[in-house]
Amino acid sequence: MIKKPQLEVEVGRIRMKNPVMTASGTFGYGEEFSPFIDLDKLGAMVLKGITLKPKMGNPPPRIIETPSGMLNAIGLQNVGLEVLVEEKLPYLNKFTTPIIINISGDTIEEYIELARRLDEVSQDKKIAGLEINISCPNVKQGGMAWGTDPQSTYQVVNEIRKVTSLPLITKLSPNVTDIRVIAQAAEEAGADVISLINTVVGMAIDINSRQPKLANIKGGLSGPAVKPVALWLVWQVFQTVNIPIIGMGGIMDAQDAIEFMIAGARVISIGTANLVNPQATIDIIEGIEKYLIDNKVKDINELVGSLKV
Ligand SMILES: Cc1cc2nc3c(=O)[nH]c(=O)nc-3n(C[C@H](O)[C@H](O)[C@H](O)COP(=O)(O)O)c2cc1C
Repeated sequence: MIKKPQLEVEVGRIRMKNPVMTASGTFGYGEEFSPFIDLDKLGAMVLKGITLKPKMGNPPPRIIETPSGMLNAIGLQNVGLEVLVEEKLPYLNKFTTPIIINISGDTIEEYIELARRLDEVSQDKKIAGLEINISCPNVKQGGMAWGTDPQSTYQVVNEIRKVTSLPLITKLSPNVTDIRVIAQAAEEAGADVISLINTVVGMAIDINSRQPKLANIKGGLSGPAVKPVALWLVWQVFQTVNIPIIGMGGIMDAQDAIEFMIAGARVISIGTANLVNPQATIDIIEGIEKYLIDNKVKDINELVGSLKV
């Protein structure tokens, strides 16, 4: 009989039964996916980015298909903190899978307030960690502005660190000149984990009307088109920081996931693939397991950063 490989991983004190998580904004609040997959089989669930107050997001059109990817300008539409805590988390609390809350703010005070209030309810609502989104390209204030400068990255992570003992994941933007200085600033400020990448800024034009296809003009590119960019950035960050990395960007199947782990990601997140195939996460978990068996790798952690150069 073939012995099953060890799939358990740990990032920033968050223990997962396997290294496959959902990427924020592509998995709703989990409930939408439960008719398709067993949520208990996931490594962790990262929910749609939350703000203090509910947000309507940007006007439509706000999603455009592109060759090998998609452009979105949702603009952080979400239910707000109160509905998340009172209505969404009780449903998810039925599952054993760790829940990670992705947070966004227009001001540093908003990030601090969100982190403080989530910390207060974290035991009761089984919150395993916070992912700080300092990389959203689709909001006018805040968002990506925080994550494109090492000083403001340090400031926002450091201030959040003071109000919560929850594991902190800092999510980085690919839209920077040198991602290594941003990753270093996040680590120095007290981040436990780095996640990357958020979407790559882009646009699309309708040649008949000569108008932008997105009402917001620009949007965030995701899907297979961004995978080579994401892999390169994960590899660069792996060589720079000592904290674990969550890799994402265009992961569509197990082979993509394994590439990210070899480049240095301890855990990987599935985003756009969920919108194409709602069972993508489960297919990827099974594909990783098969790869480990075929290649006689006993423990998934052996893959992390094993790139031969
Ligand atoms: C429709 C959509 C909504 C997203 N919303 C968020 C969000 O609320 N917070 C966040 O940090 N990232 C958000 N992202 C970025 C994804 O979590 C992920 O970083 C990015 O899409 C790259 O991964 P992928 O190519 O696998 O989709 C969103 C992406 C998409 C496509």
